[in-house]
Amino acid sequence: MAHFPKDFTWGVACAAYQCEGAWDADGKGPSIWDDFCHEQGEAHVKHGDTGDVACDSYHRFREDVALMKAHNIKAYRFSVSWPRVIPDGDGEVNETGLAFYDELVDALIENGIEPMPTLYHWDLPSALQLKGGWQNRQIAEWFARYADIVARRFGDRVKRYMTINEAQCITELGYGMGVLAPGLKLPQTEIARIYHNIALAHSAAQRAIKAVSPDALVGFVPCGKLCFPQCDAPGALDAAYRATFEYGARWGFNFNIVLDSLALRRYDDSAPEPVKRFAATIPEGDWDLMEKPDFIGINVYHGDPVDGDGAPIPHVPGEPLTACKWTITPEVMHYAPLLLHRRYGLPMIISENGLSCNDRVYLDGSVHDADRIDFLHRYLVELSKAIADGAPVMGYLQWSFLDNFEWASGYDERFGIIYVDYQTLKRTPKDSAKWYAKVIETNGAAL
Ligand code: NOJ
Repeated sequence: MAHFPKDFTWGVACAAYQCEGAWDADGKGPSIWDDFCHEQGEAHVKHGDTGDVACDSYHRFREDVALMKAHNIKAYRFSVSWPRVIPDGDGEVNETGLAFYDELVDALIENGIEPMPTLYHWDLPSALQLKGGWQNRQIAEWFARYADIVARRFGDRVKRYMTINEAQCITELGYGMGVLAPGLKLPQTEIARIYHNIALAHSAAQRAIKAVSPDALVGFVPCGKLCFPQCDAPGALDAAYRATFEYGARWGFNFNIVLDSLALRRYDDSAPEPVKRFAATIPEGDWDLMEKPDFIGINVYHGDPVDGDGAPIPHVPGEPLTACKWTITPEVMHYAPLLLHRRYGLPMIISENGLSCNDRVYLDGSVHDADRIDFLHRYLVELSKAIADGAPVMGYLQWSFLDNFEWASGYDERFGIIYVDYQTLKRTPKDSAKWYAKVIETNGAAL
């Protein structure tokens, strides 16, 4: 039987652009994702899908919150859309946009669900991108002002925030490889600059939130390579640690590229050349500006198995895969919290975990997603091992409550425990939603 701490937080997660829709309603400004979908269309997003309507949660959030309550959900990690609150990013506040989140936060609390906002889940106001977006150091000020506005409005009701989601995807995929908005392919020193600006922005936002709500906890959500040992050899865990934090050719996908800045206030000697070149230009005093987050949000989907020397285990023919062909590696949920805790000593929340399945409504009117139940079950059992081994994990947020817009894959990938028919917007709880409700009811003992 799996054990979880008494006060463990069980929840679900989603992000504004992926579920809200209402892309230009009530004074909302355009974001880089609106532009990416509208202007670049099919070239970048499957079938030319857009988040214009998505799950229409902007208008249907009460129905969604009721469904959460019906499934025992205790926390909802949603993201605030920056351009809904400040249409051009650093100018006038859109009161109607703020009021929407007010109503959402109140509805959650009335239903016993903790509101856990993320301030930035990829939908940068277009006007800020025109000023250089994350390449512009001024983003730290713009972001801190936005954080201050949000904290003033919700500080009486929100206790845990996350600032920036998946810094590595923003940077590598959005500004390096061009597969996510804003679709740029910048050289590596610019990538290093963006990581630094993200660290400055997180830090400035954390200070802004704490100035308003000194007791609030502020988290940061990085992502990247997570290795785990696939053998019991002595030293295998150390080898997995080294492999996880070793900068390889894809150095931008390491946790340390941004967490070292925030939590350790440095790059170490092993930092790659472009980072060292950029680091030489960092203004004096920048390291003192870095704020260690109160917790790390870890989005756990899959990891890289390594042998006793930390070398990658070669691909196994026929290995288990999700619908979007990600490997299924539950052990990463055991080791990732341990390795991150060993390096940074910070509490953690599993801010995302889930998979896409080929879900559909069966003849009996239900959605039978046995694959999802098996996946979540395996990962949660591993998470209980991490906690038993001493990793301070405060909660687990399943990705995602509703099926939603999966970025460049459009609506083809279904990650939800609630099925969404995008023609009618009808919600149908999948078998996994009922299963997860039971897990929560028993605080994991049902596993
Ligand atoms: C991580 C991202 O934060 C989220 O937006 C995305 O939908 C999931 N991964 C699944 O790919």
